[in-house]
Amino acid sequence: MKIIKAKDYEDMSRKAANIISAQVIMKPDCVLGLATGSSPVGTYEKLVEWYRKGDLDFGDVTTVNLDEYRGLPRENDQSYYYFMHNHLFDYVNINPERTFLPDGMNDDPEKECARYEEVICATGGVDLQLLGLGHNGHIGFNEPGEFFEKGTHCVDLQPSTIEANKRFFASADDVPKQAYSMGIQTIMMAKKILVVVSGADKAEAVKNAFFGPVTPKVPGSILQMHPNVVVVADEAALSKCTLPE
Ligand code: F6R
Repeated sequence: MKIIKAKDYEDMSRKAANIISAQVIMKPDCVLGLATGSSPVGTYEKLVEWYRKGDLDFGDVTTVNLDEYRGLPRENDQSYYYFMHNHLFDYVNINPERTFLPDGMNDDPEKECARYEEVICATGGVDLQLLGLGHNGHIGFNEPGEFFEKGTHCVDLQPSTIEANKRFFASADDVPKQAYSMGIQTIMMAKKILVVVSGADKAEAVKNAFFGPVTPKVPGSILQMHPNVVVVADEAALSKCTLPE
């Protein structure tokens, strides 16, 4: 695991976007695993900026997203489908038919999870998976628990996640209570993983996930076992860790 210290959110976003750009340049028909939330917004902004400058071409890229709220239609401005279009897909030359997310409106969790695993498998596998880290150490919506969930599954969101995400909704009651999420094994099968983390409020999660024991109680800790992980974290997020000089 390589940990890159960024000065602040802006610096983290530029560094992460550089890593994704390198992936797209090296393999124009690559498969990117994508995340939503506040952490990658600045990264997507940079990618859009560099696409507009003519430095990037998404024409042959395929994307698979980590997760989607269950029960939110695509048009809902809090759906992850909406987020991805609003922050990236609508502003670059990506083929919408090669952008995939779980279908939050499929009411049959078993069928939807199996379908999404097949979608991921049919892409040939994720070359670079972008991740954020939850305050409770979650990745995707793999919440802390007694074991690591393997494949795509339907998750009951924990109160702490509902609390953290209520900022995007009118109230905590409006936050969906379930989501479809790639599992830990799905995530770990990506060839490379890039984690972006920013802010002092994530410092404890960073310490537990990347410097503590590997345990399903901190789902992100499993990333310590992956052979090719880069964490780009800002100084505030790293404030509870001692990095080797
Ligand atoms: C988003 C996702 C989540 C977030 C995490 C951090 O697709 O899967 O794991 O990455 O909750 O969220 P932010 O970046 O909003 O702090």
